[in-house]
Amino acid sequence: MLRPWNPNLIVRAEGRGSLSVRIAQAIIEEIQRGRLTAGDSLPGTRDLAKDLEVNRKTVVQAYDELAAQGWVTTDQRRGTFIARNIRDGAPHKPEPEPAQTFGELRGSAVKPPLLWPRQGKVSFDDGVPDQRLIPTMAIAQAYAGAARAASRQRLLGYGDPRGTEALRQSISKMLNMTRGLNTTPDNICVTRGSQMALYVIAHSIVAKDDTVIFEELTYPPAVQAFTLAGAKVQAAKLGPEGIDLNHLEAICRRTRVRAVYLTPGHQFPTTVVLRPSARLRLRALAAQFGFIVVEDDYDHEFQFDHQPMFPLASNDQSGQIVYVGSFSKVLSPSLRVGYVAAPTHLIQQIGNWIGAIDRQGDPITELAIVELIESGQLRRHIKRVHAIFDKRRTTFAEALQDELGDLASFDIPTGGLAFWVRFAEDFDLGKLEQRRPQGAPQFLTSAQCAVGAKAKPAARLGFASLDAHEMQTMIERLRDAVEGG
Ligand SMILES: Cc1ncc(COP(=O)(O)O)c(C=O)c1O
Repeated sequence: MLRPWNPNLIVRAEGRGSLSVRIAQAIIEEIQRGRLTAGDSLPGTRDLAKDLEVNRKTVVQAYDELAAQGWVTTDQRRGTFIARNIRDGAPHKPEPEPAQTFGELRGSAVKPPLLWPRQGKVSFDDGVPDQRLIPTMAIAQAYAGAARAASRQRLLGYGDPRGTEALRQSISKMLNMTRGLNTTPDNICVTRGSQMALYVIAHSIVAKDDTVIFEELTYPPAVQAFTLAGAKVQAAKLGPEGIDLNHLEAICRRTRVRAVYLTPGHQFPTTVVLRPSARLRLRALAAQFGFIVVEDDYDHEFQFDHQPMFPLASNDQSGQIVYVGSFSKVLSPSLRVGYVAAPTHLIQQIGNWIGAIDRQGDPITELAIVELIESGQLRRHIKRVHAIFDKRRTTFAEALQDELGDLASFDIPTGGLAFWVRFAEDFDLGKLEQRRPQGAPQFLTSAQCAVGAKAKPAARLGFASLDAHEMQTMIERLRDAVEGG
C-alpha cells in the first residue's frame, strides 16, 4: 500500500549512542511530540536509509530496537507501524500553540454560520434537502466525465472568474426557459453557493453607509454580507404576505435607499410568497426611487400547491433587479454552486471580486452540473424529490398539529422546505435556547432572524431532510422542551 506521506525525520549527527540508536531516538521523540501517532506507517527501511544516507542495516537495527521496546509493530508484508497501544506508553501531547504575538484580531467581526448540525446526527435544519436522496451515482459519473472533458478542453488551469462558459450558457438557458428571465451567458456569474453571490454583490453595489433594506425578519447571512460591505441596514415591516410596501415607500421618501434584499419566492424565514400585485408595486417603487432589488431565489424549484411563480427578475427591462440562485437545494449544499444573473457591467465587477477572493470556481464541478442539466438527470431528480418532499410536508404538518397543536400555530407552506412555527407571544424562546434542556433540539429562531426590533417567538423548522420517524422524534423532543420551558 502507498503511504500518504513519509515523515521527515531529523537525526542528530552527533550524540550519545550508535547511529541506529539515534535514529530510534528520533522516532521516539516524534511519537512523544505527537507528530507520529498510533497506526502511522513508518517509511520502508530502504527509503529511510536512502533519505538519511545511511546503510539499510542501520535502519533495520533501529526498527528492531523500537519493536523490542514496543513502540512499533512490524508486519512482514505491510511494513512497520507505530504500535496501536502507544497512547498508554507515550501520552500524546501536542505542543502548545505559541503565545499570540499579534495581539487582538482587528478585522471586521464575522459571525459563524447559522446552524451547524453535527455530522450524522438527526436535527432540525432551516430547510435543506435530505442528503440520502442526493443522486450520488449520477453526480459521480458526471464528475468522471467532467474531469476528462475539462482536461481535453484545457479547463484545468486558471480560467474565467465568472465560471466556465458551458455552465453560464446552461444557467442562462435554464433561467430564460423556466423562469422568464432574458439573459445571455454574459449576464451570468457562477459563484460558490448563493452565499458568495450575496457577498460579491454587496461589495459591488454598496459603498460605505449606503442604506440597504431588509425585511424585519430575514436571512441573517445576507445581512452580514451587506454590513461587511459597509452598508447601513434598515428594517422594513413584514406583513402576512411579505414585505410591507407602504412602509418601504415611507422609508424611501425619507432616506436614499441603495438596495432592498428579498426572498419573494419563499420569504425567509416565514415562507410566505410575495403576491403578483405586490411584485408589480415593488418594481414600480424600484423605478421611482432608483434602488436595486437583490432577489434571492434560493429554493425556487420547491413549489407544491401551484406552479413556481416567475421571479421578480423575469422579463425585467430596468436592469435594477439582481437575481441570485443556487444548486444547493436541488442537488447538494456541499457542491457550493450558485449564480448571479445581472446586467453585464455588474457581472464583470462581480467576476473581478471573485478573482480577488477565490480566483475562480471549480471547472470540474461546473462541467458535472452542465452534464446533469443537459442530460435531463437534474430535472428527473427534482421531479423525484419534489414528490417526496411534498409528502413529507403533509406528514410534518400532521405531526406538528398532533404534538404541538396546543402550544404553537403554523400555516402549511405552499412551497420551500421549512415550516414557520409561531409560539404564544409570552413564550420565552430565548430562555429555552439558553437553558437548552437535555435532548432539546436546536433550531433557527425568530430572534436570530430579526433585524433590529424584538421578534415574536417563532422557529423555522426544515422538514425535507427528515423521514417520518425522524420527524416524529424531533417534534416530540421539541414539544418536551417547550412544555418544560
Ligand atoms: C435565503 C437563503 N439564501 C441563501 C442561502 C445560501 O445557500 P447556498 O450558499 O448554499 O447557495 C440559503 C441557504 O439556506 C438561504 O436559505
